Amino acid sequence: MENVLRLAIVDPGDTTRESLKAMLLGLDSIWLEAECSRYEFFPDVVEQTSPDIALISLDADPDKALDLVSKLGGTAPKCSVFVVSSSTDGSLILRAMRAGAKEFLTQPLRLDDLVEALDRLSERKSGDSSSRGSAVIAVAGVTGGVGSTSIAVNTACALARDPQKTVALVDLDLCLGDADVFLDMIPDYTIVDVAENVSRLDFSLLKRSLTKHSSGLYLLPRPVQMQDVPLVTADGVQRVIGLLKATFSHLVIDLSKSYSQLDMTAMSLATHVMLVTQLDLPCLRNVVRLLMSFNEYDGLSEKVKIVVNRVGFGNSQISLKKAQETIGREIFWQVSNDYRTMIDVRNNGIPLTEHAPKAAITQEIVGLAEAICGSSATAGSDDDAQLSKSSLGKLLGFWGKDKTKS
Ligand SMILES: Nc1ncnc2c1ncn2[C@@H]1O[C@H](COP(=O)(O)OP(=O)(O)OP(=O)(O)O)[C@@H](O)[C@H]1O
Ligand SMILES: [Mg+2]
Repeated sequence: MENVLRLAIVDPGDTTRESLKAMLLGLDSIWLEAECSRYEFFPDVVEQTSPDIALISLDADPDKALDLVSKLGGTAPKCSVFVVSSSTDGSLILRAMRAGAKEFLTQPLRLDDLVEALDRLSERKSGDSSSRGSAVIAVAGVTGGVGSTSIAVNTACALARDPQKTVALVDLDLCLGDADVFLDMIPDYTIVDVAENVSRLDFSLLKRSLTKHSSGLYLLPRPVQMQDVPLVTADGVQRVIGLLKATFSHLVIDLSKSYSQLDMTAMSLATHVMLVTQLDLPCLRNVVRLLMSFNEYDGLSEKVKIVVNRVGFGNSQISLKKAQETIGREIFWQVSNDYRTMIDVRNNGIPLTEHAPKAAITQEIVGLAEAICGSSATAGSDDDAQLSKSSLGKLLGFWGKDKTKS
């Protein structure tokens, strides 16, 4: 992962130091630069190793530890000091902050608290919490069966071919999701296990909860039992995505078509939202409706990339030019119609990159994966002409008059 943060730790307690180390060693976004068991030696360690973060455990001797926090403020001003303690005493927290600590973490340290603290640090340093390099791609569809799972799964597998990338696919279509079918996998754990245990998850449990596919992709599937669906809350989804972001360089999330609170949470956390459509009237009408409603959410509309699937399907399709005019923004990518290949891929549970590496449709999906990752969250904003009333008007007129390919 890009932008790894280097960290040095001091904790005179052997047991707590070992458990903190175990957690830190599991995070790809952290490089454990140095460890120390004596407060008095730590300023020298920091001077020699210049870490981005100094993690100081207060419990062995809070007064000595807080002196150390103040001292580092003078000798290593560029190093951000995080403190960790089993105490939640307000006055201790206040003293730590006054001494210059940037974060006060509670022992036993929770992985998601640490990840959030790291995000806040990245945000303070660069004004962007996504600067640690992970890209979150949410895949939404404008109607049932439009091809969003086909695109999510195959784009994720295309990304996973690159050994520099670590990729996880989350099936957020909690009732009817079928990402596991596309990958022919029978996972041991689902998103319910992870969301339920998110507060006590450590890194190894998180990795064990995901199932690795031969393409290198990790899958977090939907719940087995429908009754378990309500156990996954928006807060749980937010925490799961936060944890996965700390571990994987790329997350692909296959959303449901209900645009529920969970889907909206995932979209709000995404770097890019692929909106998959086809070139027929019901689909284009939904693109217009969805884009209008996305305008109500801060920053969402700018992240949307329109992906047209099954181009060339039948002869009653609306032309790309007309579709583009109608929806009022550029079409980001096109994927052609290839029913035979796509049905084989799904029925055999083998992704395009393995089943038909040379097929044109595979190249299109590989191109999509490259294009989406090459573009920043704000790229394409010139094309993102906000959907105006006039484009809706055009669409309404267009439905009335011209229903054929032009
Ligand atoms: N480019 C394509 N060409 C031909 N067929 C395709 C294409 N993309 C997807 N399909 C087929 O369309 C059907 C629906 O695809 P898929 O399950 O990916 O859609 P979905 O939007 O995820 O559906 P759902 O709403 O059920 O989640 C599948 O049979 C799939 O093989
Ligand atoms: Mg689907």
